[in-house]
Amino acid sequence: MAVSAQRLESFSPQAPRELVGEFSIASPEEIGRIVARAREAQRQWWTAGAAGRAAAMMASAAELRARRDEFAALVVREVGKPAVEASGEVARAISILEYYAQACFAAVGEQYPPSLGGLLYTQRRPHGVVGLITPWNFPLAIPLWKAAPALCCGNAVLLKPSSEAPACAAMLEEILAPNLGEDVFTVVYGGGDAAQALLDSVDAVSFTGSDAVGRSVAARAGARGIPAQCEMGGQNAAIVFDDADPARTAGIVAGAAMGYAGQKCTATRRVIVVGSDSGFIEAFIDAVQGLQPAAPEALDTTVGPVISQGARTDVLDAIEAGRSAGARILAGGQVPELDGWFVQPTLVDGLGPGHRLSQEETFGPLATLLRANDADEAVQIANSVRYGLVTSVHGRDLDRLLATAAQLDTGLIKINAPTSGVDFYTPFGGEKESSFGPREQGQDALVFYTTVRTVTLAPHGA
Ligand code: UN1
Repeated sequence: MAVSAQRLESFSPQAPRELVGEFSIASPEEIGRIVARAREAQRQWWTAGAAGRAAAMMASAAELRARRDEFAALVVREVGKPAVEASGEVARAISILEYYAQACFAAVGEQYPPSLGGLLYTQRRPHGVVGLITPWNFPLAIPLWKAAPALCCGNAVLLKPSSEAPACAAMLEEILAPNLGEDVFTVVYGGGDAAQALLDSVDAVSFTGSDAVGRSVAARAGARGIPAQCEMGGQNAAIVFDDADPARTAGIVAGAAMGYAGQKCTATRRVIVVGSDSGFIEAFIDAVQGLQPAAPEALDTTVGPVISQGARTDVLDAIEAGRSAGARILAGGQVPELDGWFVQPTLVDGLGPGHRLSQEETFGPLATLLRANDADEAVQIANSVRYGLVTSVHGRDLDRLLATAAQLDTGLIKINAPTSGVDFYTPFGGEKESSFGPREQGQDALVFYTTVRTVTLAPHGA
């Protein structure tokens, strides 16, 4: 990515000299004008009614399905997501659109016992123009899991995608804008200035990205008095008990830590082995070593490049910080001989749970191995970070698994399943510093994208 005064260029992380697309950066004045037009268009979109909105969203889903291979190929090319995962993301995007198309017909209010006779009821109504600020790592699914519920509820949408994934956003606009009607869904390109202009004019905002930016988005929204929802970092643990099948669990945890080069806020970054080692550690080292980085276009690739040179430098710096603190590198640690921003999946041992590598998020294929004497100590270590997105727990003893899960302070808990991966129809979000505002996805999203009017309808007579 390169942002100049007026142009934004997107390059492929596996072929950094390959230009994927070039886009014009919107000035703050232009963004103000786009929001004004979207505000007009929103009225029509809202009055199109549930059936009108559902039909337009289903038409967009059908177009996405018809062009799914083209979309998946662009995801691979622009952000280096391995091909099988990219196809999975397109399938998820189609499901999200279809799910929220049907959700247009969900109840929009409740009825209460009237205190004055007549009727007492609530009505959910759209906010108006919703601004979305989205990351590059799920360049279709994240914009859509915000846009689809917002549109379903009758809002117009302004999307400012990450400067690392503008081409994917442009393709989303191609399938949405013509079906929804002019100015109902618009993409604007740019960096911090564009985000600021969006925040200054929209009626609600949903953000996914870094911790520091998320906090400033929430502060600006608070100052303007508009609703905000921010999804930020994670420092997710996998707790492995000694009754977990070593090979099976090693495969799950290695995939969750290193798949897509660890570039998910839900990736496993700490692996806590409880009690005596049952053979899991050796199986885990083997599993990580088996995930060598390779071209993301290949159907058997699990680990592609990281997004940029800067991202790779961050991973290498973190490995170096571990080394100089006396850590042992159990797997990886090297840069492979490939063109592009590749780095080996790396497993670090011998650092305490308080070390920076186990406390802060490095957005890449890097995990630390930690040990706990018992379940209580594992929980204490797992919870000892400022984040609270997701934890996984692995083993066979159901009583112990459930007792452990009950003490975890994360918004998502996975038992014998990878920390990464979400079901789009369930609430998504974290505790502590991982999230701000209400949950995303599922029916919860419909609450965030609406405001409630309480209507008292008393009889005119007696
Ligand atoms: C997933 O694990 O499939 O930015 C989704 C992220 C998260 C989404 C993870 N908000 O990585």
